[in-house]
Amino acid sequence: MSKIVEPSREDVWKMFDEISPTYDFLNHLLSFGADLYWRRRLIKHLPQKEDVRLLDLATGTGDQLITIVKKAPQVKNALGIDISREMIRNGQKKIIDKPYTHQITLMEGDATDISLEEASVDCVTMSFGIRNVTKMERCLEECFRVLTPCGKLLILEFSIPKNRMIRGLHLTYLRHILPYVAGWISRKKEAYRYLNQTIETFPFGETFCEHLKKAGFYRVKAYPLTFGVVTLYIGEKLPCTTEL
Ligand SMILES: C[S@@+](CC[C@H](N)C(=O)[O-])C[C@H]1O[C@@H](n2cnc3c(N)ncnc32)[C@H](O)[C@@H]1O
Repeated sequence: MSKIVEPSREDVWKMFDEISPTYDFLNHLLSFGADLYWRRRLIKHLPQKEDVRLLDLATGTGDQLITIVKKAPQVKNALGIDISREMIRNGQKKIIDKPYTHQITLMEGDATDISLEEASVDCVTMSFGIRNVTKMERCLEECFRVLTPCGKLLILEFSIPKNRMIRGLHLTYLRHILPYVAGWISRKKEAYRYLNQTIETFPFGETFCEHLKKAGFYRVKAYPLTFGVVTLYIGEKLPCTTEL
């Protein structure tokens, strides 16, 4: 694998601006529709209390947020922020004139410098975004800061399967098939090559759980999904006296 070059914060938003028009289509195509299942698995772990205030970081075109407000009635209002203006713009187009339009706010914002007060949300979600932020630890500290005591962090991110045979097949797909298909459709092959390389370099599983603990989270859990191609991470902010 060629050496990965760390992009700047500006490079990241420019890259996502560029791939935003075909982003949703390619997500569904390249995951064979499994992204819908992964997003629903996250929803099962949302806090069960009434009227959950939710923040979705690196929300992109809002797919995770839209699935949440459709399937989780306890989430009445939700805010999604993303560093890429075009991803947000495409997301805003998707939510116009929908039954849930008034429930979702999408705006530009940085997951490493969240413009919300301390302890202002009950749940922070982040799907396929954490490996793209340039300062991961700072982002986790910000998640901790904005959560209320008893609040929950739910992160979905790609990971590498443990089983040797499945890992081999998956890496072949990531390295030799996905960038070509995505590059051909989006005309941005380099962006997809970079995005796949970040999957291989992301500190997944137990290592990522250690980062969550370091940021202050308790009851940290990691659930591998689809043979470990994706992992759902959960962390809680204590003190919490009720069952979430
Ligand atoms: C792979 S997309 C995931 C989008 C969406 N969450 C989803 O599930 O489809 C990653 C997103 O992270 C965003 N991003 C990267 N760094 C960010 C940062 N520092 N703050 C906010 N968003 C960021 C990108 O602009 C991009 O939209």
